[in-house]
Amino acid sequence: MSRVAGPLVDIIAGARPNFMKVAPIIRALDARKAMGGRLRYRLIHTGQHYDARMSGDFFVQLGIPEPNVNLEAGSGTQAEQTAAIMVRYERLLLESPSQACLVVGDVTSTMACAIAAQKLKVPVAHVEAGIRSGDWAMPEEVNRIVTDAITNWFFTTSLWAGENLKREDVGGERIFFVGNTMIDTLLANLDRLRPPPFWDEMGLSSGGYFVLTLHRPSNVDTAAPFEALLKAIGEGTRGLPVVFPVHPRTAKMLEAIPGLPQSIRFVEPQPYLEFNHLVRHAKAVITDSGGITEEATVMGVPCMTLRDTTERPETVSVGTNEILGTDPAALAPALDRLFAGRWKKGAIPEKWDGRAAERIVAVLERILQA
Ligand code: UD1
Repeated sequence: MSRVAGPLVDIIAGARPNFMKVAPIIRALDARKAMGGRLRYRLIHTGQHYDARMSGDFFVQLGIPEPNVNLEAGSGTQAEQTAAIMVRYERLLLESPSQACLVVGDVTSTMACAIAAQKLKVPVAHVEAGIRSGDWAMPEEVNRIVTDAITNWFFTTSLWAGENLKREDVGGERIFFVGNTMIDTLLANLDRLRPPPFWDEMGLSSGGYFVLTLHRPSNVDTAAPFEALLKAIGEGTRGLPVVFPVHPRTAKMLEAIPGLPQSIRFVEPQPYLEFNHLVRHAKAVITDSGGITEEATVMGVPCMTLRDTTERPETVSVGTNEILGTDPAALAPALDRLFAGRWKKGAIPEKWDGRAAERIVAVLERILQA
């Protein structure tokens, strides 16, 4: 006897920080299916990131299945990318509708697919909803606000994110505090982390080097401030190697800066297992990323954020992160404190326990009556 097919959920993944967030959701959906669950999914890659180092490597390492559809939207300005993704996703939904669209995080693909879906009356679920930096100069902040304005079901990583949504008049019955799927992936992979091939060659040892990542347009799109930050980092880290996996947009700017500090070691963007091995064993991480502040918090590694704001305040109030701002002068005193052994220890935020994806799938099954 054949059963009626269960509801179909589109899972959207577009750019590097999406992949570790969708991996555990897909695993949880597969696990439910194996137990007779009826919810079906379709994995859609928008093509926002397309280099193997920014995309394919993550699929392989995290065991994410091949996408069912690749929209191949590629790079462009914010509007070009948004438009290309919307047009292509809308076409897909018109040809082959789904019953819900699940988006994660705050990248351009997140917002573009949410808009295309909602306009076709496909309800939107947003994972990592409600976080806010308050800084509209960040493209991600605009993506968050627009996405949450048209989301039906909000999955949050903190109670604070839920409070932000309630202030924006979202009813509490639509907010689900489930934890953090990025941390689900980290905890599931802690035992698999492994050193990158250059570990010995660079003479890296536990606690004997720094990890640096910078790719925010505000930090890297103009040569002079970027150069000043790199000089301050080179000076403050007292000759220890600073491993800097360089994002493609940052690489373009580096070519325009002569005479970079010797201790900064520029390497390609790292795959997931190697990158998090580097973070786990670093003396500290210096970054302008948001997700990395969460991972550093969970691994108990000191973290310095070169931004004026954070949309993840629990990494500061509970975790190991501090917001230094973007003035290079802030680095020396912070690094002095670190070298003096006076960095805070930090703890793990509530519900960052590796089970967020299971909670999300349980809610989806209930809502979609799967
Ligand atoms: C995007 C996200 C950001 C996230 C970051 C992680 C938005 C608005 N921003 O920023 O939140 O932290 O991803 O990487 O969505 N490029 C490549 N190969 C690729 C992808 C991009 O070379 O596979 C180059 C292209 O020149 C492209 C540039 O990087 O124009 C920027 O890519 P884009 O996706 O626009 O934004 P990111 O800076 O990567």
